Parts: sequence; structure tokens; C-alpha cells
Amino acid sequence: MVERAKVDMEKIVSLCRRRGFIFPSSEIYGGLSSCWDYGPLGVELKRNIKQAWWRAVVQERDDIVGLDTSILMHPRIWEASGHVQGFSDPLVECKSCHLRWRSDDLEGSSCPTCGGELTEPHLFNLMFKTFMGPVEEAASVVYLRPETAQGIFVNFQNVLNTTRKRLPFGIAQIGKAFRNEITTGNFIFRSREFEQMETEFFVKPGTDEEWFNYWLEERLNWYVKLGITKENLRLRQHSKEELAHYARACYDIDYLFPMGWSELEGIANRGDFDLVQHAGSSGKNLDYYDDESKEHYIPYIIEPSAGVDRSALAFLCDAYDEEPDQEEIRVILRLHPSLAPIKVAVLPLSRREKLVKLAKQIYADLRQCWMVSYDDAQSIGRRYRRQDEIGTPFCATIDFQSLEDEQVTIRERDTMNQIRVPIAELRRTLQAKLEGEDLFVLPPGGKIWKEGEG
Ligand code: GAP
Repeated sequence: MVERAKVDMEKIVSLCRRRGFIFPSSEIYGGLSSCWDYGPLGVELKRNIKQAWWRAVVQERDDIVGLDTSILMHPRIWEASGHVQGFSDPLVECKSCHLRWRSDDLEGSSCPTCGGELTEPHLFNLMFKTFMGPVEEAASVVYLRPETAQGIFVNFQNVLNTTRKRLPFGIAQIGKAFRNEITTGNFIFRSREFEQMETEFFVKPGTDEEWFNYWLEERLNWYVKLGITKENLRLRQHSKEELAHYARACYDIDYLFPMGWSELEGIANRGDFDLVQHAGSSGKNLDYYDDESKEHYIPYIIEPSAGVDRSALAFLCDAYDEEPDQEEIRVILRLHPSLAPIKVAVLPLSRREKLVKLAKQIYADLRQCWMVSYDDAQSIGRRYRRQDEIGTPFCATIDFQSLEDEQVTIRERDTMNQIRVPIAELRRTLQAKLEGEDLFVLPPGGKIWKEGEG
């Protein structure tokens, strides 16, 4: 397990900036508080996380379908869902420095920054408001969605009618959500614009507890399969007082982030709250007809709701490692190959024309399969370290001998082991390695040695 001491948030933030994973939003204008831009490597990591989730939740199952609903929705949705009324945090303001705080985050009764007196708490709604159309009046107010879930509930009948799915079945969605959080921070952990990966799983009332437990296990395993250390994950049950207005039960999957245990994903049993609310408010029938029991009922909903950005942060923290490297430190992101932004780096040993020609051919060939980078700047050792730091699982090194024997070296990030394989076998070998096959299973004609040896 990676020792927590090694992974402080500053190191993660600095690596993300330095190597182009994540930048502060609007940086040349001084930044925009708690909004973040994903750079060339960050965007790949994020896409890979979403792809892994979509594969596990939608493509590899036959009981869940996908959806992509609009961010702006009818304002009555947010009245029915309880967000207009209740999606608020208690806010206090310092009478001296005018900084604002969530009163339930404060330990004392004075301003943590200047010690000034605080106002009485008042409820502050976290939804961002805007106007639809050219007239800025109350009748044209719309909200940026604070969760993707409502887009799913209001499409329940559409999906049911068009897919002919029967219970139990789910609808999954990945998309942006916005919350005007009072307290932000811890890098991308809590921001005002973020992405969610949500599943709403519709079940027959009475089977909800069983499905709730099923999803707890399923979601916990998803993180572990993608390389998160088991000991850095825990399930935390919400107390009665803590439960959201819609939830009958809820657990958080917490991750041991550098700042301590914090929520990575929430799994809630929402009962029939949402469909009952939307049926009442829209006047539309959102019943389900069960052709086995010949009954009409409103399904219960089990909701695993994960954050893309929090997942990215957890994967980065868990993958971060350092080890001594002669006088220096080797920084390694031990990311699961399916999450690594770049799968293979093609490295010609020199910039001589003949070598470059072969290296470019190999690069062009591998790019047909994966995100591959080409690097011919500085010593080979430095290039390996650069790839280690961004989590590239494999490097393919082309040297002068490659011109003679038509073989190249594959170098592995985690062990620094190297194997020599025929160019004709390179794609197939990398494919196997990326899918987790043992590096020491060699193709015909291959050989193994340690980095630094002959
Ligand atoms: N539909 C249920 C729902 O939205 P939530 O616990 O408020 O539940 C689900 O949010 C997940 O969304 C969280 O576990 C977290 O990963 C992510 N999330 C929520 N607020 C966030 C924020 N301000 N910044 C980043 N991620 C956030």
C-alpha cells in the first residue's frame, strides 16, 4: 500500500500542473474560484474513467441503458425534486472581513480568518440560476442542474416505452452538474462545476434492500478492480439526521484522501420519492405495470452516484508513488493501464534518420490502437522518468540493433523490467500486457532483462 505520508495534496496539485493534467480555470485572468480545466493528460484520464464506468455499468450489462439529458430543464422539476425548497446550506458572513462560511463547517463562533463577529446563519440555496430567452424576469428563471439524476427520473416513461425494459433495470448518465458551494477547496474534490456518473436502478418495492446491498458491493469492487488500494476505501452509513430528504438509506464510499476520509460516491435508496413527486407535479402517470404480478406500482430507486472529478483525484492519489533513484527521486503514477492517459511511449534511442524512420513507422502503427506518444528529447533515462511520472505503463524503445534484428525493447513502468520482442509481435504483446497478462510471458524470439543491464 502507498504510505499516506508520501501523498500530500501539494504534490498532486504540482504534478497535475507541471505535466498538464489539471490547471486552474481562467488562469491568465487570475483564476475563477473552484473551477478547473483539464489539460491534455487530464482529459485523457477523465475520459478513461468515464469509459471504464460506462463499460462496467452500461455496455457489459443487459439491465442498464444510457441517457444524456440536457443541463437546463423545466424549473418545475426542481420544485418537485425538493431542490428549490431544500437544497441549501446554512451560511454565515463575517461582519468585519465579509468572508462567508458554512456555519456547520465552523468550530468556534467567530470568523476563522480574522476572528470577527459572524451574522446569524441563513439558508443559502446552492443552485445556480440563469434566465432562458432574452427577458430577465422571474418567469424565465432556469437552473443549472445540481445533479444529473433528475434528467433520468423525468425520462423514466420514455425509456420504459422505447426499450421495453422490465424491472429491475437501470438508467445511467454521465454529465456536468453545478453547485454554488459555499466552502470549496481541496483541489478538484469540491468544485462548483463538476461531473457526475449516476445510475438510477428501478426495482420492485420490497426488493430494494437486496439491490441496495448489491450496488454497495458492486461499486466498491469497481474502484478496487481499477487499482485503488482496498484499505483506502470504506463504507460509511449515513445517520438518520444526515439522510437527504429523499433517502430511506444511504452509504458513502469514502476514500482516504490526503486531507482524510471523504466521500467519493454516495449510494442511496431513494424509495419512490422521485417518481411520486414528478407524477404529482406533472400530472403524468409514472406507474409501472408488472406483467408477472399483474400489479401497478411506483418502483423504488437505488442510486449509486459517483463524481468523475473525485474519482480522478482518488485514482491520482492512490497511484502516486516515489522511490529513490540514485541521487534523485523517481516519481511514478502507478495508474491502472486502462486509466493511464498514454498507453505506450515510442522512444527512438537517437535522432538518426534511419532510426527515426523506423520509430515513426512503429508510432503510426501503435496509434491505430491506443493513445501513444513519441518522445526523442534528452537521454533515454530522462524520457523513462517523464513517462513514469505521467503513468505510461509501457515504453517501446527503438535502438540501432532494431535495424538489424527487427526487434524492439518494451520497458515496464512499475518494475522497470525490459523485454525484447520482434516488431511483428509488438502490437499483440502490448495488447496482452495492457490487458494484464504477465510481462514475462514472452512472444517467440523474446528476451528479458533489467533496466541498466546490457
Ligand atoms: N443524485 C445524488 C447526488 O447528487 P451527492 O452525494 O450530492 O448525491 C454525488 O453527489 C457525488 O457527486 C458525490 O459523491 C461526489 O463524488 C460528487 N460531488 C458532489 N458535489 C460535488 C462537488 N461540489 N465537487 C465535486 N464533486 C461533487
